[in-house]
Amino acid sequence: MVSEERIVSPRARGEDRAQETNLRPRSLEEFIGQPKVKENVRILLEAAQGRGEALDHVLLYGPPGLGKTTLAYIIAREMDVRITVTSGPAIERAGDLAAIITNLGRHDVLFIDEVHRLSRVVEERLYPAMEDYALDIVIGKGPSAKTIHLPLPHITIVGATTRIALLTAPLRERFGVVYRLDFYDDEAMKRIVQRSARLLGVEVDERGVEEVAKRARGTPRVANRLLRRVRDYAQVRADGTITRDVACEALGMLEVDSLGLDDIDRRVIEAIIVKFDGGPVGLDTIAACISEEADTIMDVYEPYLLQLGFIDRTPRGRVATKLAYGHLGIPYDKEPPQRRLL
Ligand SMILES: Nc1ncnc2c1ncn2[C@@H]1O[C@H](COP(=O)(O)OP(=O)(O)O)[C@@H](O)[C@H]1O
Ligand SMILES: [Mg+2]
Repeated sequence: MVSEERIVSPRARGEDRAQETNLRPRSLEEFIGQPKVKENVRILLEAAQGRGEALDHVLLYGPPGLGKTTLAYIIAREMDVRITVTSGPAIERAGDLAAIITNLGRHDVLFIDEVHRLSRVVEERLYPAMEDYALDIVIGKGPSAKTIHLPLPHITIVGATTRIALLTAPLRERFGVVYRLDFYDDEAMKRIVQRSARLLGVEVDERGVEEVAKRARGTPRVANRLLRRVRDYAQVRADGTITRDVACEALGMLEVDSLGLDDIDRRVIEAIIVKFDGGPVGLDTIAACISEEADTIMDVYEPYLLQLGFIDRTPRGRVATKLAYGHLGIPYDKEPPQRRLL
């Protein structure tokens, strides 16, 4: 629970869910960054519209807070169809899936978040819905049970996951297109902060934008969250305008460092360096060491540390890099690997 409250955690929280609807880009035009994905989606949409067909099934993957849900909504909106939103763990039984799917209209989008968490039974029912636009419904039990083959309207499944590796091959293969969302670059982050500030009616100068953008871990959701906290601070401790100084003070108070790392990130790196002499060390061991869940570290913290080049994954576990030592101010006394061989 504690980690849910962390300011830089890219996971959604209650407050985000309320605000996200307002800050969420509604069209592809408004969607900032991710140029490759955008271009691909644009072509996909135009082609489907040109043929008057349902869009192919789309799988979106990448770390939390990068815009998967946003893109699913945009896709439905651009196709001018309805969207129904559910998630892997929410569909408990095959019957639940049937109830959802039989309510969909022609070309509608069914967004399944955390699609890697669908149960096996449900997943297998999804296959014919994706492939043949049909649902096999079992009626009755035991020897008198009958299977009814129910044709469905052509629909689009948009799946989202933070863990593509956990998807079964048959499910992955049923998605016509797979897009990976990456961390946003500085330029895109600045535009996102600017846009959100405008929508929130917050006064922020250029350097203020830069500072918030820089510490938001390349993640729009984190940028929006930091912006709201910095806004509060500016309102209470300054004249309401977010300048660089105001942003630095506010973020310093929240213990978000110059690269956007928080206490947990630092504990992860510190554990590897101090307790395991830089690694390699298994993720579970690190997790136990700092009393966090391994899944949380893997989904929420590790992707950004990897992106920064602070840790590396090796077959024998995670290692801390020279950059990580530098950031924590710990002297790096390892010899480069080549020399160690001599
Ligand atoms: N490309 C983008 N441009 C502007 N804001 C974005 C973008 N992508 C995401 N956001 C913001 O970040 C928030 C989180 O995005 P979301 O789609 O919920 O992430 P995910 O589903 O990948 O966890 C959104 O509500 C939106 O305000
Ligand atoms: Mg989401």
